[in-house]
Amino acid sequence: MPDDRLVIAIDGPSGSGKSTTARAVARRLGLSYLDTGAMYRAVAVAFLDAGVSPDDTAAVIEATTSADIELSLDPDERWVRVNGRDVTAEIREPRTAQNVSAVSTIPECRADMVRRQRALMDSDPRGCVAEGRDITTVVYPDADLRILLTASPEARLRRRAGDMAGKITEDQLRDQVLRRDRDDSTLVDFQTAADGVQLLDTSDMTLAEVVDAITDLAEESRP
Ligand code: DC
Repeated sequence: MPDDRLVIAIDGPSGSGKSTTARAVARRLGLSYLDTGAMYRAVAVAFLDAGVSPDDTAAVIEATTSADIELSLDPDERWVRVNGRDVTAEIREPRTAQNVSAVSTIPECRADMVRRQRALMDSDPRGCVAEGRDITTVVYPDADLRILLTASPEARLRRRAGDMAGKITEDQLRDQVLRRDRDDSTLVDFQTAADGVQLLDTSDMTLAEVVDAITDLAEESRP
């Protein structure tokens, strides 16, 4: 690996603003961008496509490890394909969000995702900004800069409500943000900053302020 490669890992619960933030930081610093949640979501679409039940662990593992996942690493382009099919819009549908925990709570599926994510993060000689719940602790603990974005539950619900305006009910929204956090936190502790991970509470910050703060930290931590 060239020495000047810069790797930034950003964790945080849903609605903490990690996707928008990570994309904006990648654009500002000229790095690639990896949305690891999109990979979990793509696999959920793949197992649903294959007619697999979320309760059938062995079949979910098989659908995960055999899935051909391609996704854009360009912060200005957004597309995801699974098994040759474009699922960019479908991965954001409530049906996908409701089934994704079936993938993210199976250790064998996580191991497969982690292996692929490391390879994708290493594929750009300039470096990468990657976001996802275990990115600072499991996927890339050696990243130059590791950030845990947090925000109060109220701020997170408000932001997700803005993203999903008119597309889902209040109950579905609470389910997506709060229940999924609970399910996912059975395997990954993404609410407490691990050693060496910087905590950034964004409840009262604008996106521009968050991006500035991370860019400053990145300049300080450049290898
Ligand atoms: O960040 P997101 O909402 O797009 O993530 C979708 C799901 O995948 C969510 O249930 C958490 C899970 N996930 C995970 O467990 N680990 C990651 N690195 C990324 C996402």
